[in-house]
Amino acid sequence: MTSRMETAPRLVDIELVRHWLYWGLAWLTVFDGSQCGGAAAHATLTDDGRKGYAAGDHQSPVKRVIIWSTRPCRWTSRLSGGARQHIEQGAVTGGYKADRATVIKLLNEALATEIICVLRYKRHYFMASGINAQGIAAEFAEHANQELAHIDALAQRIVQLDGEPDFSPVELVQRAHSEYVAAGSLVDMMREDLVAERIAIESYRDMISYIEHDDPTTRRVLEEILAVEEEHADDLSALLKGADAGH
Ligand SMILES: [Fe+2]
Ligand SMILES: [Fe+2]
Repeated sequence: MTSRMETAPRLVDIELVRHWLYWGLAWLTVFDGSQCGGAAAHATLTDDGRKGYAAGDHQSPVKRVIIWSTRPCRWTSRLSGGARQHIEQGAVTGGYKADRATVIKLLNEALATEIICVLRYKRHYFMASGINAQGIAAEFAEHANQELAHIDALAQRIVQLDGEPDFSPVELVQRAHSEYVAAGSLVDMMREDLVAERIAIESYRDMISYIEHDDPTTRRVLEEILAVEEEHADDLSALLKGADAGH
């Protein structure tokens, strides 16, 4: 994967040369008073009445260069020229500033953390019991669904970065930042979920400060997830306070 990024760029962009030659000749033609645009210029450069670059065989070398320069120009801007290089890398262009391998590794750790969160919330949803269980279980289910959406967002960004999302269950717990704790009582479940959310919040903040401005898209993905994790922590904190007040 990395070897494709290391391919040296061409020193001279032949399309760029043609681009500037084309417009230079177009303006010269205008000033000469014979034509009024670059696209029309080569009609005057052919000498047997035929238009375009299918001109006759009896052209001088200079005229051939002029006609070559006026072929439809693929080079439309400096930006698109850069975007055409390493096209196999998809969304990763030459302007990407971050350490891609490290970003993918961090995203995969976040992915593992989210998978563990889904498993833990699902367990808590199905095992929640007691007089106040219904509303709290509904909260667990909602959180589980939102963690699933985070999994999708992280995996999608990893693929955009030309990486591979790691969904392997092998060493999933080791890759994740938070733990899977089954917990017994409803209060213990909420407490463990709050601990996990706080760990997730810290890890997302760390990732965002590491990326800074080097990868704005990944940063935006992480910031959106972070906002939801903070809501989860708030929800759990409020539920725990309610549970404490009920005793
Ligand atoms: Fe999440
Ligand atoms: Fe969460």
